[in-house]
Amino acid sequence: MYSLKLPRNIVSGAGSLKELGTAVQGKYKNVAVFSDGGIIKSGIVDKVIEQLNCCDVQYEIIETATKEPTCDESQQIIDDFNRKDFDAILAVGGGSVMDLAKLTSILVGSEHSVRDLLESPLLGKRTIGLMMIPTTAGTGSEATPNSIVLVPEKELKVGIVNPEMIPDFVILDGDLIRDLPLEIAASTGIDALTHAIECYTSKLANPFSNLFAAESLKLIVHNIEKACSDKDSIDEKNNMLLAAFYAGIAITSSGTTAVHALSYPLGGKYKIPHGIANGMMLMPVMRFNERACQKELVECYDMLNLSGAKRIEEKSNIVLMRIEEIISNLAIPKTLRELHIEVDDIDQLVQSGMKVERLLKNNKRIVSPEDAKKIYQAIL
Ligand SMILES: NC(=O)c1ccc[n+]([C@@H]2O[C@H](COP(=O)([O-])OP(=O)(O)OC[C@H]3O[C@@H](n4cnc5c(N)ncnc54)[C@H](O)[C@@H]3O)[C@@H](O)[C@H]2O)c1
Ligand SMILES: [Zn+2]
Repeated sequence: MYSLKLPRNIVSGAGSLKELGTAVQGKYKNVAVFSDGGIIKSGIVDKVIEQLNCCDVQYEIIETATKEPTCDESQQIIDDFNRKDFDAILAVGGGSVMDLAKLTSILVGSEHSVRDLLESPLLGKRTIGLMMIPTTAGTGSEATPNSIVLVPEKELKVGIVNPEMIPDFVILDGDLIRDLPLEIAASTGIDALTHAIECYTSKLANPFSNLFAAESLKLIVHNIEKACSDKDSIDEKNNMLLAAFYAGIAITSSGTTAVHALSYPLGGKYKIPHGIANGMMLMPVMRFNERACQKELVECYDMLNLSGAKRIEEKSNIVLMRIEEIISNLAIPKTLRELHIEVDDIDQLVQSGMKVERLLKNNKRIVSPEDAKKIYQAIL
């Protein structure tokens, strides 16, 4: 059995922001616009406000404080939000903003807290509208039922999964990510690439997730380098937004695997941005998985139109070499030491990573603590 859940309405393409009015006009009276300081400074929120000003609607900008918030920081925003009377949330931002907006949307007026949802995610019930405009390409959070929070005492990022967090309306407008700084475009693009390849090779892969993961993978491999390096490459940027969204759909139907599981402690303990942590773990985990995922990687070779394999067994290696080349071209750090993580830290990373059973169980090859240790050691 496999299933697929999707946002109710999606518009895509350069200039699609102007469709915001169709989502808002006549439906909502008071919209909370969630965004963060970096995005507000970039001018993107001004463009969104311009559209809201054309509608008969009140709005307020809610500046969410930090990148990749903890469960308690998220709770603080939700408590403040609860003192006001909004009937919809519009998230304008990357995964951090969207995830917080999603959690808020299922905890408005609720007796439950974010910490309650860590144990019982389905306690959250949505009572207000939820719209998303991603400004990174990206997490695909605009498609998924997941919200990821940092749990400080566990030194781990933890996923809360509840289908009510899938939004009503999504706008994927490449014009909005024109000025995305190279470093953020690169790390968030690698996150999308990781989602696509993990979903395609996941134990839970199925015809729905494969359709979206494969399309996402093709779009990313063919567009990511230009989208990151050339500010005016609007077609490539639109393709990256689409790819990130597709990879989010693939996550919804299938699931990520050991790359995300072993990258969560890097974010949880060392605050390494999510995309960079995945970019670092992607190659060592995929090399570990290569034999178990040979069939899927051979399919990737063919769908990506790669060349150079004389024998079928060489195909998976060529796919992984192409991914390695992308990671290298985008200057993602390669070693833990570059991030001040030393050999003595590895046992703790293993201990935390092995707790992410929700994702480890999706990995085609069983990961033992000894395997996890070797994987971290490979990038020391
Ligand atoms: N819910 C999901 O399905 C899902 C999936 C993957 C990751 N995540 C979570 O998403 C978070 C990471 O999100 P992210 O990678 O999008 O980064 P982010 O939202 O943390 O943003 C990173 C930085 O980029 C800036 N920024 C974003 N868009 C910009 C733009 N267009 N111009 C200028 N600056 C911009 C922000 O201000 C911020 O400083 C993590 O917490 C991760 O765990 C969630
Ligand atoms: Zn991710």
